[in-house]
Amino acid sequence: MAGPQELAAIADRAVAEIGACADAAALEAARVRYLGRKDGEITRATKEIATLAAKDKPAFGAAINEAKARIEAALNARDAELRGESVGRTLRDRIDLTLPPRPVRVGRLHPVTTTIREVSRIFASLGFETVEGPEIETDYYNFEALNIPPGHPAREKWDTLWITSPLGDDPAKPLLGRTHTSPMQVRIMEQRRPPIRVVIPGRCYRYEATDAIRESIFFQYEGLAIDEKLTMADLKGVLYSFARQFFGGERSVRFRPDYFPFTEPSAEIAFSCFVCEGKDPRCHTCGGDGWIEAAGCGMVHPEVLRRVGYDPSRYQGFAFGGGIERLAMLKSGAPDIRLLYQNDLRFLEAF
Ligand code: DAH
Repeated sequence: MAGPQELAAIADRAVAEIGACADAAALEAARVRYLGRKDGEITRATKEIATLAAKDKPAFGAAINEAKARIEAALNARDAELRGESVGRTLRDRIDLTLPPRPVRVGRLHPVTTTIREVSRIFASLGFETVEGPEIETDYYNFEALNIPPGHPAREKWDTLWITSPLGDDPAKPLLGRTHTSPMQVRIMEQRRPPIRVVIPGRCYRYEATDAIRESIFFQYEGLAIDEKLTMADLKGVLYSFARQFFGGERSVRFRPDYFPFTEPSAEIAFSCFVCEGKDPRCHTCGGDGWIEAAGCGMVHPEVLRRVGYDPSRYQGFAFGGGIERLAMLKSGAPDIRLLYQNDLRFLEAF
């Protein structure tokens, strides 16, 4: 029969054995050997308590508790050590701190986004606020309010994608994917009073076959300024300044008469070719004539002003609109607009 001394000796042995356990399995075996519910050495000793004389019971019980506590503490401590060792081993096996780091793949902005931001930034420096508007428009804003009534031949310039609504169509208000950002001129004039200076970048839609310079979904930017004493000279000054900031100091700007129903007079803006400076008759960027047509512009037509309730004898304004992709292509030298929308990283990562 074990006495308190023997229990202490068992605990000493157990603690030594536990400290030497090399892995979790050995540790579990040691736990069973000493504390196992059926046949552990300490468990067996506990059962003997019933055979003791009452006076010997307390000392024996205390010795059992102490032995148990020491063995449990040793088990826990060794368990923690073994876990720490296995984590350390895993880390040592998996991480080689001498390897060069893997490159981090950082995203970047799409050239169209970069161009929109650049356009907004430049016009902001000239006092123009950037606003946005709906891509689904009514016939009224896209055409009629811009002085292009139904049946007007100018409508052919903007091949239109008409939209049927799942909620049913209102024949008085046909819907379309806006063919240009110009409808926002009218929306802004309706919402505000002069002075107005806004630039509107946004997606447009045309029913058009795509080729190297045309897409059926593309971006434009629109500019509008309304005030009491604006002239064509202001329009030219703003666009000159834009060209210099966007393309660099040496750009020339060419204005040629053009026709748009919502401006009078109207002009076409071209920038001098920044690739060949007009010296290469086979230049891919300008086609050899030294000029790159970039936007339409003009003085806002009095009829357009009248329609939104502005008095044309008091207010004048100028407007301009051009393609964002055109600018992005001119700046990047990309020869084909479709490259911008194929999501080929070899192309996109060049910017
Ligand atoms: N909206 C025209 C187009 O898509 C471009 C344009 C011409 C915009 C003259 C204007 C403008 O603001 O005044 O072809």
